[in-house]
Amino acid sequence: MKLHGLSELVLTLTLTSQCQAVLDGSRFLWYTSPAQEWEQGALPIGNGRLGGTIYGGADEVFTLNENTIWSGPLQDRVSANALEALPIAREMLLAGNISAAGDYIQREMSPPEKSERAFSYFGNMDLAFGHSGQLENYLRWLDTRQGNAGVSYMYGGVNYTREYIASFPAGVLAARFTASKQHALTLNVSFSRLENISANLAASTGSVHSINMTGTSGQPASQNPILFTGKAVFVAPGATFQAFGSSLLIANATVIDMFFDAETNYRYSTQADRDAEISRKLGNAVSQGYDRVKKEALDDACALLERASLDLGQSPANLTSLPTNERVLNSRTDFSDIELTTLTWNYGRHLLVASSRNTGETIDMPANLQGTWNNKTTAAWGGKFTININTEMNYWPAGQTNLIETQEPLFDLMKVAKPRGESMAQRMYGCSGTVFHHNLDLWGDPGPTDNYTSSTMWPMGAAWLVQHMLDHYRFTGDKTFLANTAYPYLVDVAKFYECYTFNWEGYRIAGPSLSPENAFVVPANFSIAGKTGAMDVDISMDNQLMTDVFTGLIEAAAVLGISDTDPDLQAAKAFLPLIRPPQIGSLGQILEWRYEYQEKAKGHRHLSPLYSLHPGTKFSPLINATLSKAAGVLLDRRLAGGSGSTGWSRTWFINQYARLYRGADAWEMVRAWFKTYPTGNLWNTDSGSNFQIDGNFGFTSGITEMLLQSHAGVVHLLPALPGQAIPNGSVRGLKARGNFEVDIEWADGGFKNATVVAVIGGELKLRVENGTSFSVNGEPYSGALATRKGAKYTIAT
Ligand SMILES: *[C@@H]1O[C@H](CO)[C@@H](O)[C@H](O)[C@H]1NC(C)=O
Ligand SMILES: *[C@@H]1O[C@H](CO)[C@@H](O)[C@H](O)[C@H]1NC(C)=O
Ligand SMILES: *[C@@H]1O[C@H](CO)[C@@H](O)[C@H](O)[C@H]1NC(C)=O
Ligand SMILES: *[C@@H]1O[C@H](CO)[C@@H](O)[C@H](O)[C@H]1NC(C)=O
Ligand SMILES: *[C@@H]1O[C@H](CO)[C@@H](O)[C@H](O)[C@H]1NC(C)=O
Ligand SMILES: *[C@@H]1O[C@H](CO)[C@@H](O)[C@H](O)[C@H]1NC(C)=O
Ligand SMILES: *[C@@H]1O[C@H](CO)[C@@H](O)[C@H](O)[C@H]1NC(C)=O
Ligand SMILES: *[C@@H]1O[C@H](CO)[C@@H](O)[C@H](O)[C@H]1NC(C)=O
Ligand SMILES: *[C@@H]1O[C@H](CO)[C@@H](O)[C@H](O)[C@H]1NC(C)=O
Ligand SMILES: *[C@@H]1O[C@H](CO)[C@@H](O)[C@H](O)[C@H]1NC(C)=O
Ligand SMILES: *[C@@H]1O[C@H](CO)[C@@H](O)[C@H](O)[C@H]1NC(C)=O
Ligand SMILES: *[C@@H]1O[C@H](CO)[C@@H](O)[C@H](O)[C@H]1NC(C)=O
Repeated sequence: MKLHGLSELVLTLTLTSQCQAVLDGSRFLWYTSPAQEWEQGALPIGNGRLGGTIYGGADEVFTLNENTIWSGPLQDRVSANALEALPIAREMLLAGNISAAGDYIQREMSPPEKSERAFSYFGNMDLAFGHSGQLENYLRWLDTRQGNAGVSYMYGGVNYTREYIASFPAGVLAARFTASKQHALTLNVSFSRLENISANLAASTGSVHSINMTGTSGQPASQNPILFTGKAVFVAPGATFQAFGSSLLIANATVIDMFFDAETNYRYSTQADRDAEISRKLGNAVSQGYDRVKKEALDDACALLERASLDLGQSPANLTSLPTNERVLNSRTDFSDIELTTLTWNYGRHLLVASSRNTGETIDMPANLQGTWNNKTTAAWGGKFTININTEMNYWPAGQTNLIETQEPLFDLMKVAKPRGESMAQRMYGCSGTVFHHNLDLWGDPGPTDNYTSSTMWPMGAAWLVQHMLDHYRFTGDKTFLANTAYPYLVDVAKFYECYTFNWEGYRIAGPSLSPENAFVVPANFSIAGKTGAMDVDISMDNQLMTDVFTGLIEAAAVLGISDTDPDLQAAKAFLPLIRPPQIGSLGQILEWRYEYQEKAKGHRHLSPLYSLHPGTKFSPLINATLSKAAGVLLDRRLAGGSGSTGWSRTWFINQYARLYRGADAWEMVRAWFKTYPTGNLWNTDSGSNFQIDGNFGFTSGITEMLLQSHAGVVHLLPALPGQAIPNGSVRGLKARGNFEVDIEWADGGFKNATVVAVIGGELKLRVENGTSFSVNGEPYSGALATRKGAKYTIAT
């Protein structure tokens, strides 16, 4: 693996007296000033478990996260009345008594505790370098291909640098601070936290110089709070160290190395266990030394990030020479900075690798609503795993951009949640199998969350999440995973719906449920007519999700050679035809509910009834042209009504239009995203502020969906290329389902050539653009190829 080090950074002199570094605008985020505000500018690094953000000021704030520091212990949230209320609620809904049913369900079926646990933070590492006043030739950067970040500037004639790394192999965050002049570096460093600190002390004894902070989630000890300890050790040969309370003073240094770890009682139950783990990780890192920790960290991140790359063409030089925050501002009105799109695609992959890794712990945490970056006691929206779109969106780029192993932490959380969902299914619905509602927390709490008519009572979370297990198999071909993990999970999810659904008009339907998070106008023949309703039965998205659970189970059973007489398989085959197919309404649109209710918001941000267009498959033009057309009608209607009104919603549109092969429309959504949503550090936001990471992942996925799709049984090259906007380019190292590795080049707005490597062999069906004819290894393509494992296929027109 070739390492792209700082030596590659191109430094150029500008015409001003300032020396500014100009870094590759497709790869680096860089700035000429410190971040003023966390969510508008701080730069995120992470090793999958620990996260850190860098402001880069003279007095540095390094915000620290550990992914199991949440607001408290496991809760058992179930309403005592739910099981008794269920048949009554259904009867009311079926009778069209929508308003009364909504009130009744919220009152009787919502758990008394409506909130899950919220993601919190470890604290800040405050680093004072004693540099008050002007920092000259300031540069702050983040490398999306290696996952490290840094700061450099001149102060008092001395060049000071800081570099921050997150090491997956060593399990620590680390930093190196340098001065170009001997002994010119001083540092006053301590931890801080807004509340619930138990101890915060610096120590300097012998050769060990450290700061150590312990804290809790705040509940009394008898209630099992989350307990955490974080420690940073400092190595600075020749320097002097003094500890004062919580502050460690380091003086007369030339180079200071810092290593940080934090652990919690989620994984290490006693203080002694946490201390031992911290000492083990920090001890190893110190004995390896910064250079080796850095090399291994960057090699590791690079090995993942360098698997795939994108070239959409070059921006005008006067745009890539600007700092990233100015490029983001410019892109609000001028969309000629094409490399900013490439940079944002790279950034999405960096964020995924930095926030979701299988570290070998018994339970790893997937990326939450903020990935793993948060600087408050309670993260925005509780920083939960919101599984009615957001958590799933986080993992859309995983398979297709060749980072499939980043999904593994999601499966850990699903494993934790499954038995809790089984208990919930029994107590709330009287059923076997497992059920999750629309959020999970670190404990896999599957209970109904919040108390909203349009989101809380949605028993479909596991049905959506389990699709990620199926896709894991489809991308990797890993039959052991399919047999041991995905299939039993599917069976458990399927069991729930076999029991929980009930007969109506010849179908097995779900409810009380809702179409996340939309609402409708109660029609004239129902009560109370004209009021807003949200809860009902026979929701279109529920039917689509159940269809994918049962078709997925049957597909998996076929791969695994499970006998037709197997009772789970027989039950699934019997159930599938009882799911109501999608309905088409008077405008030619996919219907969202069982009747053609008037939507409360025509432009609702959620595209729930279009699940089967993306990320599902059944509305694909190649699978069902009728449904695909109806999906397009609804998608256009949503957009015309003002949807795409949050960053993640806008990026869902990119993916949806790509799935309709409407590349120009998909590209318009890319442009619209840049108009409002990214901050100066390219974080996706809800509305221009309020960081929510899903849109970053949806963005990376959306760009990729324009170039390669593989959900419809065919490896489809350039299915939705916006040929006018990006006429020339290439993409390398993408993955298609079936475990094919794909490189594609295009020119003059159309396909040029491609290479497909059959990593595990198997049947390869190909399609180019909208049915363009092509050759494979020089022979005209006339249908599916039986590939050889490891063989490379050259595709040309
Ligand atoms: C978190 O970021 C916000 C926005 O920049 C800032 O106002 C706040 O002080 C930060 N909190 C902490 C604990 O650093
Ligand atoms: C709806 O249900 C409520 C509560 O059970 C009941 O009072 C009301 O009469 C019902 N309305 C109709 C139209 O059935
Ligand atoms: C949920 O809302 C309903 C209806 O507004 C109310 O009766 C119930 O007490 C609420 N439950 C909780 C836990 O707040
Ligand atoms: C400071 O030193 C670093 C590392 O040698 C270098 O990359 C940077 O350009 C220097 N900055 C200035 C302003 O000389
Ligand atoms: C070090 O920083 C802390 C606050 O972070 C401050 O209270 C203390 O006075 C500082 N010590 C020195 C010697 O500057
Ligand atoms: C500590 O945590 C508890 C529980 O989360 C909270 O109620 C309390 O306000 C927190 N802060 C302080 C200063 O105790
Ligand atoms: C740092 O070094 C200088 C000169 O070598 C010395 O005068 C000073 O006392 C040292 N400072 C500390 C804190 O040891
Ligand atoms: C950190 O400080 C706490 C509280 O003083 C102490 O119990 C713990 O042993 C320390 N941990 C480490 C790793 O130094
Ligand atoms: C970049 O150059 C183009 C063409 O000369 C010009 O129209 C545009 O305003 C410039 N943009 C910026 C941000 O300087
Ligand atoms: C498309 O879906 C509709 C509705 O489920 C169904 O009636 C029709 O047969 C499907 N068409 C094809 C070609 O599968
Ligand atoms: C396309 O063809 C050129 C020229 O033969 C070759 O260098 C390039 O690698 C090919 N690209 C892909 C994606 O196969
Ligand atoms: C694809 O080709 C077909 C047949 O040539 C045509 O009817 C259709 O409009 C094309 N679709 C797109 C999206 O260009």
